[in-house]
Amino acid sequence: MHSVDVSDPVWNHLLDVRGAGTSIAATDGWSEDEYQAVELYGPVASRSGKPMVIGQIGQSLDGRIATVSGDTRDISGPDGLAHLHRLRALVDGVVIGVKTALHDAPRLTVRLCDGPNPARIIIDPRGRLPDDAAVLRDDGSRRIVIQAVDQDRPEGVEVVRLAARDGLLHPEEIIQALTERGIHSLLIEGGGFTISRFMEAGLLDRLHVAISPVLLGGGSSGLTLPSPPERLTDAIQPETAVFQLGSDVVFDCALRADS
Ligand SMILES: NC(=O)c1ccc[n+]([C@@H]2O[C@H](COP(=O)([O-])OP(=O)(O)OC[C@H]3O[C@@H](n4cnc5c(N)ncnc54)[C@H](OP(=O)(O)O)[C@@H]3O)[C@@H](O)[C@H]2O)c1
Repeated sequence: MHSVDVSDPVWNHLLDVRGAGTSIAATDGWSEDEYQAVELYGPVASRSGKPMVIGQIGQSLDGRIATVSGDTRDISGPDGLAHLHRLRALVDGVVIGVKTALHDAPRLTVRLCDGPNPARIIIDPRGRLPDDAAVLRDDGSRRIVIQAVDQDRPEGVEVVRLAARDGLLHPEEIIQALTERGIHSLLIEGGGFTISRFMEAGLLDRLHVAISPVLLGGGSSGLTLPSPPERLTDAIQPETAVFQLGSDVVFDCALRADS
């Protein structure tokens, strides 16, 4: 397993090349742990000029992303949380499902590292999110709601209206609509339902599973695919690299061959 040191020079370099479509060359003088930080974040930062979609799940040792009461905030340790904020800083937009928006009232801003705030994107097909939700608050970042109903949103919030089929919005149409609006890289932050739909559609380039050393024994599961493989021989076996971030371990899974 690789230890990771996201030093200021490495992080500033990653922010400099963010979205530039260039590969990141190793720089003389970096330690092995700094080089590993480039291995972990480089593919998210550089993105080689095409749309890039990454999912991230912060989960317990037993694969839970929230307790039975829905408590989720401290599942990841401090380094795991900093990891999530770094991913936010490297993408154009961060996507959550409406249940996470309603339950967690997340701000989706970058606070634990330097870097820009991403656009906040909420999938709310039936218009359940109230106008005063924290995620819609005007702080200068773009706020976008993807919905299947005619519903006005607060001033400044962009609305993407898509057709639902059997209550579902197709992730490919979501990505296309966001690309047309200048958002070329996405972090799908949760919850499990939302990430699973992108994964099932084969649209995640990478998946980061950040595992924290806690056992919950119940609560929401991370991934729940609508059509999971029935036999182990059919299990998804991505190319995976493993990184140590403080108490947490991040599995970086490349889900698409060219990602
Ligand atoms: N540890 C972590 O990394 C992490 C991160 C985020 C959230 N969480 C936790 O996850 C839990 C919520 O997760 P969840 O899986 O229940 O819900 P979720 O993914 O947050 O939201 C699911 C809802 O979003 C809408 N939605 C998402 N994708 C859609 C699509 N493609 N088409 C149509 N509708 C779509 C649907 O809304 P409707 O129901 O209105 O149809 C769906 O029921 C919370 O407890 C939260 O704390 C954990």
